[in-house]
Amino acid sequence: MITFPEGFLWGAATSHFQVEGNPSEISTRCSDWAEWTVADGRIADRTTADQACQFFNRYPDDLELLNQLNLNTFRISLNWPAICPDANGSGLLLSIDSGQIEHYRQLLRRLKGQGIKTFVTLFHFCLPKRLADRGGWLNPATPEEFGRLAEIVAREYKGLVDYWITLNEPLAYTYQGYICGAWPPGLKHSYDDAFQCIHNMLKGHALAYQAIHAEDPHARVSYTMHWRPFIARNKLSPTDQMVRHLRDAVFNHLFPKSVQSGKLQFPFPFSLKKAVEPLSGTIPGLKDAMDYLAINYYTRDVCEFSYEPPFDLFGVKTVKSEIEVNGMGWESYPEGLYNVLTEEIAPYRFDSKGFERPIIITENGYASVFPADMTDGNWSLDDQARISYLKSHLLAIHEAIKHGANVQGYLHWALLDNFEWSEGLRIRFGLVRVAYPTQVRTLRQSAHYYAQIARQNGLDAGDTGNGLAR
Ligand code: BGC
Repeated sequence: MITFPEGFLWGAATSHFQVEGNPSEISTRCSDWAEWTVADGRIADRTTADQACQFFNRYPDDLELLNQLNLNTFRISLNWPAICPDANGSGLLLSIDSGQIEHYRQLLRRLKGQGIKTFVTLFHFCLPKRLADRGGWLNPATPEEFGRLAEIVAREYKGLVDYWITLNEPLAYTYQGYICGAWPPGLKHSYDDAFQCIHNMLKGHALAYQAIHAEDPHARVSYTMHWRPFIARNKLSPTDQMVRHLRDAVFNHLFPKSVQSGKLQFPFPFSLKKAVEPLSGTIPGLKDAMDYLAINYYTRDVCEFSYEPPFDLFGVKTVKSEIEVNGMGWESYPEGLYNVLTEEIAPYRFDSKGFERPIIITENGYASVFPADMTDGNWSLDDQARISYLKSHLLAIHEAIKHGANVQGYLHWALLDNFEWSEGLRIRFGLVRVAYPTQVRTLRQSAHYYAQIARQNGLDAGDTGNGLAR
């Protein structure tokens, strides 16, 4: 049996749009995503998140699952579009929906009542539509309003939030929205916009970080990094290596490097672009604005240079995988997580005062594929592949801890099956299966396996989870 440090956080994660089916958001389509999903051809299986898991109303029962699984931590996100349905145009004076504020207060209170530590994300990919219509994160009003939102919710939920997350995966968001175009605003190869977006997200993060700290100096505030090891397909190819280097420098390092130094500096050759000149330099309040390192880790990307148009500054990744993949086509690569924790994040381990930042894995999980209209039966319950993914990644984390990584918690993505963005409902990441037409929840084998790990604060390296059938 290997054990984790005392007090280790064992949890699961969700995000509002993916689970809620928030009636006020859906009836008014007040978010970019609520609108995006109803346009033809954008979601692979033609589903929407209009109902998703109906978590908005079903959360009291769903939170019970946490105790059933012996979990001590839960991650949610707030529905910014529903909380702030209106503004005065300057982004500075917001009208707040007190019903929504109350909703999350009840939810957080319930978690506290159950003895659960809370992670709360402020931006998990969804913008108020009124801001999206005015350029979204490209408009300087957006970071201003985001800072204001942070101030308000930090005041409202003081004492109810253990860990704040300002932005979820700013680089994944930028990449999907401005480079590959699969998410709103749906732009492709818009590099100048992407860099503007990163700049404004850094500003928004700094404003939110400072606002939360002004309300509560002891708050723990960070943002999540989607960390992906990039590997050159042909290690001897200078062009594959160049693509590997650029993607790593931008996707993994640009944001944390900026927070570490307080300055946005684009790596060469992006630094030569005229458009990045006004975006570079010091951002007020940014330096050290990261109290812990929040890592979302799923897979690696194998990079190769492509000569095919349209020209992609970052090259392309290999489509054909050499190792086991999940329903998203993502490779299982636990050694990458070990490297991230022990080496790749080393530049961000300490803040400028020498404080060692704790590391929390805020997402990690495995996707399977089952159509959204499945109801009864045993489908997907015996999820050995998820169990072995979970186990291999926990072993990698444990090994990293043994070698000095200050990892203090692990949050599995996700508690429930949910709406997987452009892939729709058929991609299933849940420990708990959701039969969408009936909304029935059923624990998968992996949920039982994870519950045992959380209870023991450790795992038996020889256990395959096979003996856990219920
Ligand atoms: C996101 C989640 C998403 C998960 C699996 C992360 O990038 O934060 O919203 O569902 O990955 O793709």
